[in-house]
Amino acid sequence: MTEGTGDRLLIRGGSRLSGSVAVHSAKNAVLPLLAAALLTRETLHLRAVPALADVTTMRALLGELGAELREPAPGELQVRCVDVAGEAPYALVRQMRASLLVMGPLLARLGRVRAGLPGGCAIGGRPIDLHLKGFAALGAEVSLRAGYVEARAPAGLHGARIYLDYPSHTGTENLMLAAVLAHGQTLIENAAEEPEIVDLAGCLNAMGARVSGAGTPVVRVDGVPALGAVDWTPIPDRIEAGTLLIATAATRGEVELTGVVAHHLQAVVAKLRETGAEVWQEQGRVFLVARRRPAAVDVKTLPYPGFPTDLQPQMTALLATAEGIAAVTETVFDNRLGHVDELRRMGANIRVEGRTALVTGVPRLSGAPVQASDLRAGAALVLAGLAAAGETEVHGRGHIERGYADLPAQLRSLGADIEAGPGRVAEPARTLGGGA
Ligand code: UD1
Repeated sequence: MTEGTGDRLLIRGGSRLSGSVAVHSAKNAVLPLLAAALLTRETLHLRAVPALADVTTMRALLGELGAELREPAPGELQVRCVDVAGEAPYALVRQMRASLLVMGPLLARLGRVRAGLPGGCAIGGRPIDLHLKGFAALGAEVSLRAGYVEARAPAGLHGARIYLDYPSHTGTENLMLAAVLAHGQTLIENAAEEPEIVDLAGCLNAMGARVSGAGTPVVRVDGVPALGAVDWTPIPDRIEAGTLLIATAATRGEVELTGVVAHHLQAVVAKLRETGAEVWQEQGRVFLVARRRPAAVDVKTLPYPGFPTDLQPQMTALLATAEGIAAVTETVFDNRLGHVDELRRMGANIRVEGRTALVTGVPRLSGAPVQASDLRAGAALVLAGLAAAGETEVHGRGHIERGYADLPAQLRSLGADIEAGPGRVAEPARTLGGGA
């Protein structure tokens, strides 16, 4: 992505966040739900669709594949796929890896699919072998040619027992999406257990599918001949919620989040409590009060219900001003500590050893021009800027807008001094890549 001069956020640090804010629907729920529209000729009606760049990309991809898209009201989307094409162009897959989620439904519906292979990206290698092995187990012939992956199952897919070597989140979703129209029963073992997978299963079942066990390590799918229309509201974004909680802790503030599912936030809430913040919840709301400098805590990212990798950069930013030394270990992705160099430019004391960042807390960060290398790294730099003394310019705002519907507005409503647009400090030279 090329950065324009306006592609930045300007933050004047020092305000304590305080107030109440509503959380949007989850990016990682909406993307697979949109892909599910490809499974049927009937209409998928989604409500509370967040205004995200990744949603725009998925809409463009669906349009390219032949979907009719309508917006009957703000935040609502109707998708109808009467006829669909079987090719996901590289230009769109390159922009967003989650584009691969159209592969399962297209293979199920058409018996063939061709998709551009995503390259490496800013947070590590990210192969798709588990998706492809699963398609092969379901009876597809899979081949790679000229940067494209092709899967064919002229006689249709058949149920199979699939063991995932790693509980891949979108891998589990892609295989569920492929298996719902297959002949017979599919078992996905060592499946990912993320709440977004449970949401997708719920929507598929409302369309007439027979999926059980979502949210556990074994997902069972009994194939059905066809799926029908559905009206669905996706779950709230646990990563956006976690980001806002961590931001509040970083500024020693107090916040009420509304429209959340508290048990989706268990890992981050447990860690924030360990830092000394008070966190409590009641009926769709979570409250956090952080009065003191946080205590250092060790964090290790893991598949759900472990601590989410998508909150690791933000947590690292918080721990940069904690009291003591924290070890932050990234186990999900092989190269997701890109924000560390930028945090150091703001005065953080962090040493990287392999996949672990050893963070020695300093009393205060200081504002600086910094570069977001991906979506969550960008969020981490915003948080660091809120807690820092002076001005911070976060370049690469486009990355943040991929996955946060309007983070600056949410933070402003809590009292932060943050605005978009051209800044005053010289732009640091960096190259960029994609991200989660
Ligand atoms: C999803 C989320 C992303 C989040 C990630 C981990 C969406 C749209 N994105 O991404 O926000 O950061 O889960 O929680 O929901 N792997 C393989 N082979 C594969 C697939 C994955 O080796 O075929 C590896 C990856 O390289 C990575 C690990 O498995 O190291 C986890 O990846 P995965 O769970 O698949 O992440 P995504 O589904 O891409």
